[in-house]
Amino acid sequence: MELLKKKIDTEGVALSDSVLKVDSFLNHQLDPQLMFEIGKEFANRFKRSGITKIVTIESSGIGPAVMAGLHLNVPVVFARKRKPVTLKEELLSASVHSFTKKETNEIFISKKYLDANDHVLIIDDFLANGQAAIGLIEILKKADSRIAGLGIVIEKAFQEGGQNLRKQGYKVESLAMISSLSNGKVVFLEEKEEELAR
Ligand code: G4P
Repeated sequence: MELLKKKIDTEGVALSDSVLKVDSFLNHQLDPQLMFEIGKEFANRFKRSGITKIVTIESSGIGPAVMAGLHLNVPVVFARKRKPVTLKEELLSASVHSFTKKETNEIFISKKYLDANDHVLIIDDFLANGQAAIGLIEILKKADSRIAGLGIVIEKAFQEGGQNLRKQGYKVESLAMISSLSNGKVVFLEEKEEELAR
């Protein structure tokens, strides 16, 4: 998605060989127009999949997920990272280990919002090692929901999450795939390489 790649090129900062800072449009301040286009692109890529619901994880997944929900005209559920006091009903949970933050957290979704009739598109802002995606998949399996695939805004293709999920048979659609962040430079996968990675 050229618009997104341009934005990453102009505003993204490679903080290290493995971390990209995109606070100005995705992780802190949000660019609504860009989010709208991102949602449209996800909707386009999954429009024939019979999606009934979108599932993401707070907080940065919510922006792109809501926009995809708007374009696909389906509800959006976000997994909570803390058990909310208002959630008294039965919860589905999974533990997610973050290699970036070196911590493990439990994530929760109310059983009420997912069931066997759902065909779910998982959306997230970043795909690195894939632990958040694996946690969401675990919850969806507990709910007996079907998984149509994953829509990712930025995939760090030099980390293993995307390949592992694709090997397991999941359709993973990433709008920008980064092959390297070395020496402070963001390098995208060439289109041909993107096809191969898929
Ligand atoms: P994984 O789920 O793919 O295994 O990722 P990992 O544990 O490595 O990442 C944990 C958190 O860090 C996630 O956000 C993820 O989106 C974010 N993250 C991973 N790599 C990068 C990166 O290169 N740049 C940025 N900006 N974020 C990255 P989170 O803790 O859930 O944060 P938030 O959604 O509340 O913002």
